[in-house]
Amino acid sequence: MIIAQITDTHIVAKGQEWKSLSQTQIARRLKLVVDHLNALIPKPDVVLLTGDAIDDAGMEGYTHLKEILKLLSIPLYIIPGNHDDREDMRVAFQHQSYMPSEGFIHYVIDDYPVRLIGLDTVVPGQPQGMLCRERIDWLSRVLQENQEKPTLIFMHHPLIKIGQKLLDQLNCHTPEDFEGLVASFPNIIGIISGHYHKSCATIFGGTLCFVAPSVAPVHYFEKASDEKTKIIELVHPSFVLHKWMGGSHLVSEVVQTVEPDKRLSIEKNLKE
Ligand SMILES: [Fe+2]
Ligand SMILES: [Fe+2]
Repeated sequence: MIIAQITDTHIVAKGQEWKSLSQTQIARRLKLVVDHLNALIPKPDVVLLTGDAIDDAGMEGYTHLKEILKLLSIPLYIIPGNHDDREDMRVAFQHQSYMPSEGFIHYVIDDYPVRLIGLDTVVPGQPQGMLCRERIDWLSRVLQENQEKPTLIFMHHPLIKIGQKLLDQLNCHTPEDFEGLVASFPNIIGIISGHYHKSCATIFGGTLCFVAPSVAPVHYFEKASDEKTKIIELVHPSFVLHKWMGGSHLVSEVVQTVEPDKRLSIEKNLKE
């Protein structure tokens, strides 16, 4: 099974750009990623959009997002990030059978060889994330329902700190015993997230904890001690292919998407 992850698309209303910078070409970046995903052979089984789908852009943002995502030919599952609005997202994706009609946007997808659990880590109005007791109780209950099937958890805010002062304040806050809960379910093959706009990974509770790079541009930090940034870098939009190889083996491959005219034919160049 191949699970594609796209994250932090930060789509704004049509005709606008991320942070009002035309160079960000924020919709174009997502369109490139959608085209890239559609052309993959083999095609991923699912695409998970792990939050910051829009950039505080309300229903106009979700309308624009859906206009781009309708070009995607792979089933998509979405969860909110800190720049999303839980209720607007619910309305925008209410036609999807997995979307809860109320409360946190968390759910289980049991239709594939890997069980997928989406978690809602949003604290409205706050940039950091949280798993409160109510959400942890829900997670614990659904994990207990199937302790055999390989299970992948996807959420917006990373559980891990990475040694960058600002980002480390904005991770997913959990009670101290949460890592022990994860460790008590060895069938969890990974916990994937976004939010940091950069890729990094470590082990948490004995499982892979992977932070995916963003579709949107990347925040630039000069020093690890920086507590804010005013610079963004226009790196290529990226996504991740999480390939389940059987058992507990998950291979996570970061893919950069480039404009098609930036791909050079080696054969053609050799002839010229
Ligand atoms: Fe983001
Ligand atoms: Fe975020």
